[in-house]
Amino acid sequence: MQKPFYITTPIYYVNDKPHIGHAYTTIACDAMARFARLQGRQVKFLTGTDEHGQKVAKSAENMGVSPQSFVDEVSKTFRNLVASGDNILNTSNDDFIRTTEERHKIACQTLWQKLEANGAIYKANYGGWYAVRDEAYYAESELILKDGKKIAPTGADVEWVEEESYFFKLSAYQDQLLKLYDREEPFVLPTSRLNEVRSFVAGGLKDLSISRTTFDWGIPVPGSEKDSKNHIMYVWIDALTNYLTGAGYPDTESDLYKTFWNHCTHVVGKDILRFHAVYWPAFLMAAELPLPERVVAHGWWTIEGEKMSKSLGNVLSPYDMIEQAGGIDSLRYFLLRAMPFGNDGDFSRERMVEIINADLANNLGNLAQRTLSMIQKNGEGKVPAYDMQQPKTEDAAILVEAFTKAKEAYQQAMASFAYHQALQAIVDLGNVANAYIDTMQPWALKKTDIARMGEVLYVLAETVRRIAILLQPFCPNACASLLNQLAVGEDERSFAALTAEHALKSGTLLPAPQGVFPRIQLGGEAA
Ligand code: MSP
Repeated sequence: MQKPFYITTPIYYVNDKPHIGHAYTTIACDAMARFARLQGRQVKFLTGTDEHGQKVAKSAENMGVSPQSFVDEVSKTFRNLVASGDNILNTSNDDFIRTTEERHKIACQTLWQKLEANGAIYKANYGGWYAVRDEAYYAESELILKDGKKIAPTGADVEWVEEESYFFKLSAYQDQLLKLYDREEPFVLPTSRLNEVRSFVAGGLKDLSISRTTFDWGIPVPGSEKDSKNHIMYVWIDALTNYLTGAGYPDTESDLYKTFWNHCTHVVGKDILRFHAVYWPAFLMAAELPLPERVVAHGWWTIEGEKMSKSLGNVLSPYDMIEQAGGIDSLRYFLLRAMPFGNDGDFSRERMVEIINADLANNLGNLAQRTLSMIQKNGEGKVPAYDMQQPKTEDAAILVEAFTKAKEAYQQAMASFAYHQALQAIVDLGNVANAYIDTMQPWALKKTDIARMGEVLYVLAETVRRIAILLQPFCPNACASLLNQLAVGEDERSFAALTAEHALKSGTLLPAPQGVFPRIQLGGEAA
């Protein structure tokens, strides 16, 4: 039995419109969720919106509307990106959580009570710096001076906060956390980021203020009616708990919880790694709950060499990006191919056009198109005859050697979230197949050896079948179309079908071929 797989995106603040950063994490998680399903694993994929806190409350106030009606509106724009909305990113998430839902309030309050019962929470006075934009506390020593003003290391404005607060005994978890970072299977990927987290924790941990009293847009701290002021939970303890809510917590006897909670992977941007790799495991340790399997941190996109920001007016919306890429499949491909997942990278339109045209249109698209139209024209539209048990040497070089190499490289890359390498492996296989066409020249064989021409076309079509199966997590629509064009049944599309026994059946009638990877040009329209 393969292990189940639970994968989560960060939940997105609803103070802002969706942009490339949100689309990137969501698409990366979706590709991994689809990959795991194709491996035959049971998958839960969760995304959603982070709706409480001072930042959202202030945005609502600026708009002159109540926080609830504000979050109801903005949350829709995020839901429309994914399954359960218009699904413009073509994701396969099976849940969408909003932190204003009742199920989440129950989960947060139960977790809080558990922390309290275990002696991990105490009340004291807080005095310190807070950045509303980051929803984060900063130590005096972390601040930097800019134009005579103290700001957060992230560039966010800070304000001095003094209030009665509940604290979480974070300092008590330093040793356990360091042990977690030293275990054999890395808790954080990539390991360069694990080292960052380790040195932060090794530098000493202060207890964390986990409640606020100066505004009320949040989940009430249970029992806080007795306090002189009502406390609401700090937005990060509320937000992180969404992962438990999605797994059915507090119902720890539910199938959902029992199946998935022990097999959780969180995917996050590098800016929010500290919350996920330090605070979150400490909360879970204190509540005696199992930890996630790992936290995977990705880098940030700049836009044409500049930091993306509202003031520069260069915030890229997913809708524009899809249009410029010539469709969602190509955008998904580009985002995961153009930069190694843990690194930062630049979104340049020129590079996007280059990559999409080189890999999808010229390499894979051309291979499929040439193969399928030659079969249509010269083989009565039927899968040609071939003996898969006895491939000729030059055929085995692609069907066995190149394919096995590509599959192994692909699977190894996916195991460490190296999407760009997984895609490189597919492109390499496409290159071998294109070189095989040029060497074998099926159009010339048509005149000299028609049976061999059929064999060559079979080898090519079978290679296209395998490429289409491997590429499904990245380009689901195009691959579905290719597999339809090869008359591959819906139940023959998982990785288990990547063997010779599942190869194309000679004589099967194929539908008329259609291009699936159009060339694009700068500006977005298909060329
Ligand atoms: N609400 C918190 C997350 C809570 S998770 C328990 C939050 N929300 S966010 O909307 O501000 O950011 C969500 C994600 O978008 C983060 O992972 C962040 O790294 C990512 N990105 C924001 N801008 C980005 C780029 N320019 N490039 C890549 N990802 C970026 O933080």
